[in-house]
Amino acid sequence: MCGITGYVGCRDASPILIEGLKKLEYRGYDSAGIALLNGSDMEVVKKKGRVNVLESELGKHPFCARLGISHTRWATHGAVTDQNAHPHVSSDGNFALVHNGIVENYEDIKKFCQSQGYTFKSQTDSEVLVNLIAYHYEKRTDPNLPNRFLEAVRKALVHVEGTYGIAVISRFHPDQIVAARKGSPLLIGIGNSERLVASDVLGFAGRANNVIYLEDEQIALVTKDNCDIVTICNKQIDFEVKSIDWDLENADMCGFSSYMEKEIFEQPKSIENAIRGRISSDASTAVLSGLNMTPTELRQIDRILFCACGTAWHACLVAEYLIEKYARIPVDVEYASEFRYRNIPVHKNTLVIVISQSGETIDTLEALRESKRKGFRTLAITNSVGSTISRESDGGLYQYAGKEVGVASTKAFTSQVTICLLLALYLARMRDMSFSDGKRIVEAIKSAPEAVAKTLELAPRIKEIAKKYAKYKDFLFLGRLCEFPLALEGALKLKEISYIHAEGYPAAEMKHGPIALVSPDCPSVIFATSDEIYSKLLSNAQEIKARNGKIIAITDNPEIFSASVDDIIALPRVDASIKHIVAAVPAQLFAYYVARELGCDVDKPRNLAKAVTVE
Ligand code: M6R
Repeated sequence: MCGITGYVGCRDASPILIEGLKKLEYRGYDSAGIALLNGSDMEVVKKKGRVNVLESELGKHPFCARLGISHTRWATHGAVTDQNAHPHVSSDGNFALVHNGIVENYEDIKKFCQSQGYTFKSQTDSEVLVNLIAYHYEKRTDPNLPNRFLEAVRKALVHVEGTYGIAVISRFHPDQIVAARKGSPLLIGIGNSERLVASDVLGFAGRANNVIYLEDEQIALVTKDNCDIVTICNKQIDFEVKSIDWDLENADMCGFSSYMEKEIFEQPKSIENAIRGRISSDASTAVLSGLNMTPTELRQIDRILFCACGTAWHACLVAEYLIEKYARIPVDVEYASEFRYRNIPVHKNTLVIVISQSGETIDTLEALRESKRKGFRTLAITNSVGSTISRESDGGLYQYAGKEVGVASTKAFTSQVTICLLLALYLARMRDMSFSDGKRIVEAIKSAPEAVAKTLELAPRIKEIAKKYAKYKDFLFLGRLCEFPLALEGALKLKEISYIHAEGYPAAEMKHGPIALVSPDCPSVIFATSDEIYSKLLSNAQEIKARNGKIIAITDNPEIFSASVDDIIALPRVDASIKHIVAAVPAQLFAYYVARELGCDVDKPRNLAKAVTVE
C-alpha cells in the first residue's frame, strides 16, 4: 500500500519520479505528491487524485531539481485530501518525508513533538515522523557529525512502533536521501551516477539494472554515487547488490485496454512458465528443487498448513483438495491474518506453505515469521522475485508469471494453482501414486497452457453473457469440491472490480441459507465440471430454476446442463487434474466484461491496492 519513489542524480528529477509513480500506482491511488530539492530550496506539490492530476499540477510549478521524493497514497489515517497527501514537511520547513506503513504510537509521538513546539497540518500518522526527525536533527545530534542526517533519522526511528518504508530529504543536505524500512518494502536502484529509491523495482522504470533490497530496521544514506546502510542499532551493513531481470518485470499493456485484460490473456504463457523445467516425463513426477528439502525430509511431513490472503487464500483451498486427493497428506488452510493471532496447535511434522503473488503482504509475511519462530519448516510460492516473503522462507517456488499489475489477481491465481498441482503430484509420487497415474497427470499439466488458450477463445461469448447480466446487483457463485474455491474466487473478482455484491458458496450448502437470496433478481453462476457430481449439481440447478433464479453454467458438459440453465459457457474437455485451472478463466473474463460494461476502472478499483502492506 502506497508507492514511494526517490531520485538523486544528474538529471531532472521530476519526470523520473512521476514516471516511477505511474508504475507504482497499483499500490494506491487516492492522492499523490512530490518534494524536490534544488540547493536549499524545497518545492512540494501534492494533490488528491491520481498521478496524472499531480503531473498537470506540476506543469504549473516548473522546478528544476536533481533530487526528490514522491508518493502515491492508499489512505489509512486521515481522509483523502490534499493536506493528507504525502510528502509531509516538518513544521520548521527543513525536512520532507514520504511514508508507507502505519505508525502505531503516532498519538504519543505527536504529543511529544507538540510539546517541543512542532505543529501539524494533516490527520495522518506519517506527519509525526517528519517532525520527530526534525527534532532529533535539531536537538539530539552533533552538528559536526559527518552523517548527521542519517543519524537523526535513525534516532527518531528508535521511538517508532509500527511499520514503515520511508524516504526523507532535507534542505540542509541537498545531495542526500535517507531511506529506511520496517515491515514495508523499500529498494535502492543503482544507475550510472544516479540512485533511485522505490517500493518495488517497477518504480525504477527500467533506469537501474542493479538493486539493493533494504531489510527491516535498516537505514540507508543514498547519494548519486553511493549508498551507506546501518541498522537501527547503528551497526554498519555489508549489503548485497542484485541484478534486476527486466524481462520478468515487463509491465507494458502491449495493446490491451487494461492490465487485467492483458494478464487474463497471458495465462497460457504464465502457466507454461510455472511448469517450465518442473516436470520429469521419465519419472512421471514434478521436479521441484526450489523446495530445498530432500525426499526423505518431504516424506516425514505428515501435515501441511497453508496461509495466505485473498485470491492466494483461494489458491490454498485448491491446494488442499489436490494434496489431500493425490498425496493423501492432511492439509489445513488458514487466513494469514488469523493465523498470527490465533496460536493454533500445529503438529510437529507440519510444513507451513505461504502463497503470495506480491511476496509483500504483511499478514502473510507475519504468518511466515511466526511459523519460523515456532520452528516450522517454511516454503513460499511467490511471483515477485526477491520479495521479502521469498527471501525469508526456507525454500520456495517462484511463479515466473511476469509482473501482475492489475489489482484483481488473475494470472497469478492460475499460476499458483498450477504450482500447487505440481506440488501435489510430487508429494503423491513419493507416497502412493502409481507411475501410470503420475504419467496421466504429467501429460495433463503439459496440456494446460493449450487448454487455457482454447478457453480464452470463449471471450466473445462471455462478453455477450456479461452484457446481459451486468444490470444485476447480486450474484451467487456455486461450486463443489475443487470448484468451491473457484466459486469464491469468481465472486471476489466480480465484487472487487464491478462493486456488485457476490457470494461464493459450496453448491449444496445453498439449501442451508443462501437459497433465500434466489430470485429473478439474483443470478447464479454454477461451476460444473466434476464428473462424479454432475447429477448433484444438476439438482442444485433445478432448485434454483424452481425459484425463478437465472443460471449461468460454466461446464464441460453442456449437453447435461443446457435444459436446466439460462446460459452456458462450454469449456474444453480436459483431464480431471487440470479442470480447476481451465474453469477459473471464464469467471475472470465474466467479471472483467461486466466491469467494463459498467464503466469501472478495472485496474484500479476503488478502495483497493495491489499489495496490502499494512495490517
Ligand atoms: O500479493 P498477495 O498474493 O499476497 O495478495 C493477496 C491479496 O491481497 C490479493 O490476492 C487480493 O485479494 C487481490 N486483490 C484479489 O484479486
